[in-house]
Parts: sequence; C-alpha cells; structure tokens
Amino acid sequence: MNLFLDCVKGLPVKRPPVWFMRQAGRYLSEYRDTRKKAGSFLNLCYNSNLATEVTLQPIDKFGFDAAILFADILLILDALGVNVQFVEGQGPLLDPVKSKKDINLLKTTEKIHDKLSPVYDTVKKLKQHLPKGVPLIGFAGAPWTLATYLINGRGEQGSLTAKKFIIANNPEFEEIIKLLTEATVEYILMQIKSGADVIKIFDSWAGALNADMVRSYSLNPIKTIVTEVKKQFPEIPFIVFPRSVNTIYSDFSEVKEFDVLAVDQFLDRKWIAENIQPKKVIQGNLDPLFLTQDKENLLSELKRVTEDFKKYPYVFNLGHGITPDARVENVTLVVDYIKELKL
Ligand code: CP3
Repeated sequence: MNLFLDCVKGLPVKRPPVWFMRQAGRYLSEYRDTRKKAGSFLNLCYNSNLATEVTLQPIDKFGFDAAILFADILLILDALGVNVQFVEGQGPLLDPVKSKKDINLLKTTEKIHDKLSPVYDTVKKLKQHLPKGVPLIGFAGAPWTLATYLINGRGEQGSLTAKKFIIANNPEFEEIIKLLTEATVEYILMQIKSGADVIKIFDSWAGALNADMVRSYSLNPIKTIVTEVKKQFPEIPFIVFPRSVNTIYSDFSEVKEFDVLAVDQFLDRKWIAENIQPKKVIQGNLDPLFLTQDKENLLSELKRVTEDFKKYPYVFNLGHGITPDARVENVTLVVDYIKELKL
C-alpha cells in the first residue's frame, strides 16, 4: 500500500499524490548551493552523492509523495559520445549529429553504461536514503525530443531544424530514432535494476510535430520502449508525457502499456476529464506560472484544477517544469492543500 504507486496503477486512493516536474532546481537556495559545490550542472548530474542530496532536498522540505532522480535527459547523448555542454544562460549545446558518418561515430548502445554508471549509483543511494514510503521515479527523454537536440545541437522553439530533417533526410532520421530507442531501453532497464520504482518518459517537444508525425515518431518509439522494458519488468508503471500534442492525447490513451499520461497546461481540463480520464490515470496540469504569483490567484487556480479532475484518481503535478522564479512558499501551499484534499 503506497499512495503514489497505487494511484499510478489506477487503484483507488484517498487523495491525489503530489510531486512537481523539476522539483529539484534553481528556485531552491539549497539546490543553488549544492550546484555551486559541484562546479557545473554536468558535474552535479555525474556526482552521485551531490545528485542524491539535491533529489532529497524537495522531499525533506515539502514532503512530496514521490522523488524524481536528479539527472538530465541529455546525459544519454553524452554517453553515446556526443559532446554535450550546459552553458550558463544558454541551455544545452551539443555537436550536431546529422550525416551517416556522424551517426556511425556514435557509441553502440551497450557502451552507454560506462558514462552513466554514476546515475545508477545515484538511484542506489536514493533507495537507501529516501524516507520510507516515498517511491523513486527514474526517467528518460523520448527519442524524438532527444533527436531534436542531437540534430540541431541545441533546443529550438518549434524544433524546425529537426522537423525538416524528418522530411528531407528520412533514412538518417529513422536510423537516429532506432538508435535512441535501443539506447533508452538499455538505460531504463539499468535504472530499474538499480531500484527505480516508476519510469517517466519526457517528450517535451512532441507538440512541434504534425499529427501523423506524432504517431510515427513520438507515440510509436515510446510504445516500443515501454513494451520492451515491460517484457522484463511488467510491474513497473510508466508515466508518458507527450507535451502539447493536443487531441492526439486520445491516441496515447489507447495504448495499454502506458499507465499514466502527463498532461500539459494547454489542454482543456474538461476535455481531459471527458476523453482521457476514463481511460488513463492522468498527471498534471497546473500552469507553473501560478507558482510565481500571489497566494489568492494560486489558490483559486488550485481549486479549479482539483475540481475539474476529481471524478477519477489522478496525480497532482504541474503542466511543465517549475521555473526558477517560483515562490518557495507557494510550493508549500500547494503540497499542503493537496494533502488536505479528499477524492
Ligand atoms: O527535479 C527533476 O525534475 C529532476 C531532474 C531533471 C532535470 N532535467 C534537471 C535540470 C529532469 C527530469 C530534467 C528533464 C529534462 N531536461 C527535460 C524534459 C523535461 C522538460 O522540462 O521539458 C529537458 C527538455 C531537459 C533538457 C534541459 N536540461 C534543458 C533544455 C535545460 C536548460 C534549460 C533550463 O531549464 O535551464 C536543462 C538544464 C537543467 N536540467 C536544469 C535542471 C535542474 C537547470 C540547470 C542548472 O542548474 O543550471
């Protein structure tokens, strides 16, 4: 019996469990201090003691119902031999991979574990240090979102460079998706073997694709990954986040291998309640902007979200990651509010 695990498995719960995307991060002074100690963001991700420390900070401070491993979706690209850097104020920068020659230079998927072993150590340490009853969420980026960074060398609004690549260089694109799918299966299997209780797949840029492309390059590779992992670990629940795919959330809700669908803040809650909740447990969708605003506005938004979703069990979360300008007291307010709710 565990509130979060029961809920993600679709069992009845007395209140929604609550955790936040990016709950460990720059809005917390504790995080900023540890990051300074680490020297850089990548050092922090690869230092299992410090990564454990920052994962635990929001659990200790706010009492979230689940922890999420501290790492980044782009580490797997680093492990495949791509040069990945995080430049202050600019976000991630990578050496783009586009041609057959670039693709052939990448490491084979079984080699990724050398570089990623500190991440598995973080998972193991967290399993020892997390308070009893707080499950650990492992995660990976979906192949399409990883491909956008790989092809363009950085994040890009609308992911146009990668989208054009799908059309103009389809064989290379398909090869990239296949490689990332295989590597992600390996990566997730190791996170589970190290102790992760639940896995989340982030397809943050899925909304840049047209409907057919969403099915081919967001939904299908994610389905392959989840199906492959579940062959070995059928009991591990998966949370899938195809951000901003609009009504194609319906297609995701038909996939039996997906346990929870994370919903962004742009989708109409009434539509979600009618079309998705009867088929899948959902997670979301408070607009993270409200965490930067005053208490009264936050409270009325909280009331709206919880009212709209209350017919079925759901996981309370944001529609996207918490931003560095979120107010700490607002996070406390949300967690306390949700813990008082009854379903
Ligand atoms: O608390 C947690 O959620 C766990 C850790 C986590 C991070 N990134 C830490 C992080 C997780 C799950 C991620 C996922 C991630 N990383 C995604 C998918 C989720 C989403 O937000 O859509 C994506 C697209 C990335 C890639 C990435 N990492 C970008 C584009 C950036 C720079 C933009 C930014 O927010 O600064 C990062 C850096 C990053 N990843 C930070 C953190 C805490 C900030 C880095 C810092 O401390 O300077």
